Amino acid sequence: MSVDLELRDLAAEIAREAGDLARRRRAEGVRLAATKSSIADIVTEADREVEALIRDRLRSARPGDGFLGEETEPTPGETGVTWVVDPIDGTVNYAYGIPMYAVSIAAVQGSTLPDSWEALAGAVYSPAADELFTAARGDGARLGDQRLSVNESTPAGALLGTGFGYDPSTHDGDLATVRRVMTMARDLRRSGSAALDLSYVAAGRLDGYFERGLKPWDLAAGALLVAEAGGRVSRTGADTPRPLLVAGGTAVHDRIHEIIGEET
Ligand code: IPD
Repeated sequence: MSVDLELRDLAAEIAREAGDLARRRRAEGVRLAATKSSIADIVTEADREVEALIRDRLRSARPGDGFLGEETEPTPGETGVTWVVDPIDGTVNYAYGIPMYAVSIAAVQGSTLPDSWEALAGAVYSPAADELFTAARGDGARLGDQRLSVNESTPAGALLGTGFGYDPSTHDGDLATVRRVMTMARDLRRSGSAALDLSYVAAGRLDGYFERGLKPWDLAAGALLVAEAGGRVSRTGADTPRPLLVAGGTAVHDRIHEIIGEET
């Protein structure tokens, strides 16, 4: 088995275990641990506990790898491989009892910056739906055992996903973007989990997705899923505070870009 497939299987196994823990903690009741960038940007005790479990499992399996997680300080590694982890993507959904949350684990090589790393493998696990999305470089994307491919044809307009950051001062601009992109859409979804939005694009459940200001752990595994499902993913404005991520089948991806490009 190639190293990328081993990394994918490890990510998948740990994502399942971590997701089971998140689901159990959810059933016991969520406790907030802190707020981060704004009062709307929350961390639950489960986010921290689940990240600690993932970190421990990865450290035992691959002691020399680096780690970049949402809730803890990054740890550089010696192997060139870094694990990019969101223990609970969709924390606000999780806190409210909405089942759209997921564990996202990716292995990347080289840089820990999304524009210059090479993604090797990834897993996104949705505990509430018991759905496991996986991908390895060059080996395609899967939901369970089923191979995934993005939608290329959108005769009735594209079903799009998007998201908004936690900083209220960015909402007007993001809503203006949504207004323009709606001209190509049949409808719009805002799920509250970027990792699931990207997994859904890979699975053809969404035709495209766009969002500004995502963090590396929100997108690492999901972007690989889309690429391995035959889609396009781009991240522009890396030198700005809120880079734009666009994903979809090629035609939808390019059209979103054109429309958002017209804004400037
Ligand atoms: C958030 C979710 C959400 C997206 C936000 C992210 P978190 O991640 O992915 O869908 O719109 O931009 O920050 O905070 O739940 O891990």
